[in-house]
Amino acid sequence: MPGEFPTVRPRRLRASARLRSIVRETRLHPASLVLPLFVVPGQGKAEEVLSMPGVRRWSVDRVSEEAGRAFDAGVRSVILFGIPESKDASGTEAWRDQGVVQQALAALRKDLPELTLITDVCLCEYTDHGHCGVLAGEDVQNDPTLALLAREAISHARAGADIVAPSDMMDGRVGAIRRGLDGAGFEATPILSYAVKYASGFYGPFRDAAESAPSFGDRRSYQMDPANGREALRELEQDLAEGADMVMVKPALPNLDVLAAVRASCHVPVAAYQVSGEYSMIKAASERGMIEEERVVDETLTSIHRAGADLILTYFAESAARRAAWA
Ligand code: PBG
Repeated sequence: MPGEFPTVRPRRLRASARLRSIVRETRLHPASLVLPLFVVPGQGKAEEVLSMPGVRRWSVDRVSEEAGRAFDAGVRSVILFGIPESKDASGTEAWRDQGVVQQALAALRKDLPELTLITDVCLCEYTDHGHCGVLAGEDVQNDPTLALLAREAISHARAGADIVAPSDMMDGRVGAIRRGLDGAGFEATPILSYAVKYASGFYGPFRDAAESAPSFGDRRSYQMDPANGREALRELEQDLAEGADMVMVKPALPNLDVLAAVRASCHVPVAAYQVSGEYSMIKAASERGMIEEERVVDETLTSIHRAGADLILTYFAESAARRAAWA
């Protein structure tokens, strides 16, 4: 029999900051935050991304500046996205050993040996049509894409990636990448699968930053329908069966229910990606004085953590880590 008011007064434990602090259920730790970094060809570059205020695209010689600031704040990992020198139909720059991500891996490994380096494995930044796989006419071909993704992952591992993260949503890619890595001697390289990736309007600003908007059509034939929750668990099971070491849900805030279900259905580390559109919404509203940025960032990250994310990929990683370190 639950107690009743006035015996029961939940407000007692909310009465002061001191009390609230000892009964808080969820706390962010800087090591739970992963900073996405965009790397561009050239030298001396720190180009602003117009649709993502405060985010820049770094050339290889400067990327350690940004990663180093995050590391100083307590962030322990980054995920790299490359914007290649040139694009073609099959995205060959993705697995070139001197490609932009491969070079950034070498630079970061040298400058920040304690930083964990994750790479996004996908073709959309490297193909001239902007789709995440190779085409036959306008059809994105599943099986011919798998070997290319495996080559890309192997190339990243060879260049020093600690973890590879396929985000393409082709069927069977975790297995293909696992076999490829194992065959090349990288059986110890973990795969963080973007297991549950919805076809989302919240990726808009990213496609500006990565110059990866599809030149025709959209990604709905490979990314998931946001209306589907059960299907997320099917994707999860499939990726685990193929050997995923960690899984991701993306975007984060619109899918907290799915994130909680994924957390409850598996025993691997779960990540969530607070994507570009989630970032830019907060930035735009706070720039106009409609919301308080820091408060909203902390609230969203805490909610994502509470819903079940062990790791959160967020463009706010550095500033949030600075606050979390003292929380
Ligand atoms: C590549 C990829 C995308 C994002 C992460 N990896 C773009 C997309 O699928 O269109 C989005 C990240 C973000 O919006 O911050 N496939």
